[in-house]
Amino acid sequence: MSGDLFNPLDKKYFKQVLFEELEIKKRMGELAFEISRDCENKQVVIVGILKGSFMFFSDLVKLLYIHDIHPYIDFMILSSYGSSTVSSGTVQLIKDITTPIEGTFVILVDDILDTGRTLSFARTHLSKLKPEQIKICVFLDKPSRRIVEIKADYSCFTIEDWFVVGYGLDWNNRFRNLPYVAVVNEQNLPGP
Ligand code: XMP
Repeated sequence: MSGDLFNPLDKKYFKQVLFEELEIKKRMGELAFEISRDCENKQVVIVGILKGSFMFFSDLVKLLYIHDIHPYIDFMILSSYGSSTVSSGTVQLIKDITTPIEGTFVILVDDILDTGRTLSFARTHLSKLKPEQIKICVFLDKPSRRIVEIKADYSCFTIEDWFVVGYGLDWNNRFRNLPYVAVVNEQNLPGP
């Protein structure tokens, strides 16, 4: 962590704001409604992949509450990116879930479906614990970048091949707390 004057709100770091806070809120409402219909009469476990999913996950479970869905909640920590914008290609399990999921309806939540490696790894891992079903739920979907065959069952927005930050998504662990999503201007980002 450098003690410099890096200000994540500085406009020079962004090419554009892709999704404003209000647009995200509106879409989240629709998504929660869609998910809640599938959760009826199921034992639901929602598993968030940290750290990127934290904001999306938190908003989602609060909206599910409005629809009277009260899931078990758990998290996994997986790492795939290190601290750059380029995937390392290998996924590592850093922290596993502790909730028993046998026979349950699992919703696996991540910030973004990019190459698909992370969610594919997570799904394979959880399927060994014999849930009834695993659904993939992402805030953003970048289908043009897919390497592993996997589809999102639920997603808020589909985007082009841009590196984006905000609403949980980071560049070098920065920008996660932005309530909107922006496309970074990589040329203007400071060194790590
Ligand atoms: P894969 O390639 O395994 O990647 O589907 C999923 C993880 O990669 C990170 N990722 C991004 N993070 N802006 C980010 O801040 C992006 O545009 C981006 N694309 C991929 C993210 O951590 C995700 O969980």
